[in-house]
Amino acid sequence: MIPKTLTVQTPAKINPVLEVLGKRPDGFHELALVFQAVGLHDDLSLTETAPGVRLSITGSHNPLPADDSNLIVKAAKIFLREVLNDKAGVRIALKKRIPLAAGLGGGSSDAAATLIALDWLFETKVENQKLQSMAAQLGSDVPFFLTGGTALGTGRGEKIFPWESGPEIPLVLVKPEEGLSTPAVYQSGKAMMTNGEKARGMEQVLREKNLQKFVGKLFNGLEPAALFLMPEIGEIKQQLLDAGALGAMVSGSGPTVFAVAESQEKAEQIAWKLEGEGWTVFVTKTISAGVERI
Ligand code: C5P
Repeated sequence: MIPKTLTVQTPAKINPVLEVLGKRPDGFHELALVFQAVGLHDDLSLTETAPGVRLSITGSHNPLPADDSNLIVKAAKIFLREVLNDKAGVRIALKKRIPLAAGLGGGSSDAAATLIALDWLFETKVENQKLQSMAAQLGSDVPFFLTGGTALGTGRGEKIFPWESGPEIPLVLVKPEEGLSTPAVYQSGKAMMTNGEKARGMEQVLREKNLQKFVGKLFNGLEPAALFLMPEIGEIKQQLLDAGALGAMVSGSGPTVFAVAESQEKAEQIAWKLEGEGWTVFVTKTISAGVERI
């Protein structure tokens, strides 16, 4: 019998607004943030096997372990144990495009895609609430990728409230050579604390589909921390604005900077100007989808 195989693509994200509300007793930070899926994506192919999990990776510039420390392996093990009592296994091939430690949610997206794709592969029809709880165990950003599109996140980022999707926005993503560690950014003491109104206010701004207004409302309370740890980010922002971007902001805990362009053509021009500086540059756009079968 031919083993069952399934291929999915899973997007990166940016955060048009990220507000840090305060530090919690459990060591995490209370957040109010907007998640937005973008066209840049990874691909995962899953094949049913005897019990166990095997992962192979292609396309990653930086070394990415394929062992138990990988979030895909963790996600697959949780799913196989909790849903299938370890009676089945999977072989997963990851084609990596989303850079690592970048603030683009690549690892979280791969983990969510693993949960969804396993549910599809084994036709287990797991309840959404169960998927959400497995996702939240894996990381604060993972639950968002179960829905994709545009959403508000609260709590440590794991409580997701999907929003109507906004306009298609052309973007340029620029990632410095080095990554940033999320805990280091949160623990730098440089995060700006705000009250969550900016994140909630973005829902109405997106409905108005006014690019200038959207750009004026971009905010990231972690940006001062990312800039403190990696001053090069300031230079990237300036170069993006000089090249004609309408606005530029660090995504998540960084160090990737996303820039908003008035058209896809303009985004291509901006990207072209920033290439050759040793940075990784992508032209992409906001999307209303999440994990998709291909
Ligand atoms: O949830 P996740 O594993 O992605 O978080 C990684 C680290 O980022 C946490 O251990 C914590 O240091 C920091 N973090 C935080 N507050 C959040 C999310 C993450 O302090 N809301």
